[in-house]
Amino acid sequence: MLLQASDIHVSFSREGTGFFRKERRAVLNGVGFSLEEHRCLGIVGESGCGKSTLGRVVTGLLAPDSGTVLVDGKDIHACRGAEKRKIGRCGSIVFQDYSSSVNPRFRVEEIVAEPLLHEKLDPKERGERVLALLEKTGLGSEFVHRYPHQLSGGQLQRVCIARALAGSPRFLLLDEAISSLDVSVQVQIMDLLIELKEKDGLSYIFITHDLEAVTYICDSVLFMHKGRFVESVTDLSRLADVVHPFSRNLLRSVSGLETIFEGDGERFPTL
Ligand SMILES: Nc1ncnc2c1ncn2[C@@H]1O[C@H](COP(=O)(O)OP(=O)(O)OP(=O)(O)O)[C@@H](O)[C@H]1O
Ligand SMILES: [Mg+2]
Repeated sequence: MLLQASDIHVSFSREGTGFFRKERRAVLNGVGFSLEEHRCLGIVGESGCGKSTLGRVVTGLLAPDSGTVLVDGKDIHACRGAEKRKIGRCGSIVFQDYSSSVNPRFRVEEIVAEPLLHEKLDPKERGERVLALLEKTGLGSEFVHRYPHQLSGGQLQRVCIARALAGSPRFLLLDEAISSLDVSVQVQIMDLLIELKEKDGLSYIFITHDLEAVTYICDSVLFMHKGRFVESVTDLSRLADVVHPFSRNLLRSVSGLETIFEGDGERFPTL
């Protein structure tokens, strides 16, 4: 198993509470899931349910209050030093807000090369690596010297994916990574991700509100509600069979999936 998260609990201090009365609000309440090699796992849920917090925990950016995250059997929050850095490179994040996740004063070559800075590469080698990463994400050498404001949203998100791939991760965590793009560009980026998965054996955790995107790219999906997983679907052709009221409501709200319910009024009564 590539990644195994078990019984993750995370809470944050409540704002406005006194120093001596440290109240905490639970955000993740015993979450667990696993990600196999070469798979795309979707995580859907309403705003504020804890998706990004979970993403930070499984990529090593946030230590949970309790629970374990194993990558290749190693607990990423228990490792230290060189081992932690090595395991940390197993997972990379691509965020929704591509424009604020890059330095506007950096050229594309500097943005993509950021994760390579700790590697002892001479400028020629680094340039070749950057070019190869850009090509992998469908961008040519003409983009190397451009600044972020000289790129479209879709091109800039490709640059962010190239940067995420620079450290040769085993999985990418895509946190609403295509949500702010036009639908046609969303499809292009998802096609790129599918191609990378097939060619390079990458795995993805695909966090989204968008069930249509889930049906396009994911192999399985978990429904999150108030800091817990309430339902798991491993065969997306059976998405309409979800039983938890939250998942059913979410499914109903997606106009493109209305056909799933056609003639099914009895099985899915209005909630
Ligand atoms: N560092 C923090 N300190 C305090 N509260 C936080 C912190 N990070 C997240 N939260 C709170 O935890 C809850 C879950 O946040 P999170 O960002 O994980 O939600 P989400 O499911 O990703 O939402 P969205 O779909 O809107 O991105 C929210 O109520 C948020 O305000
Ligand atoms: Mg989020």
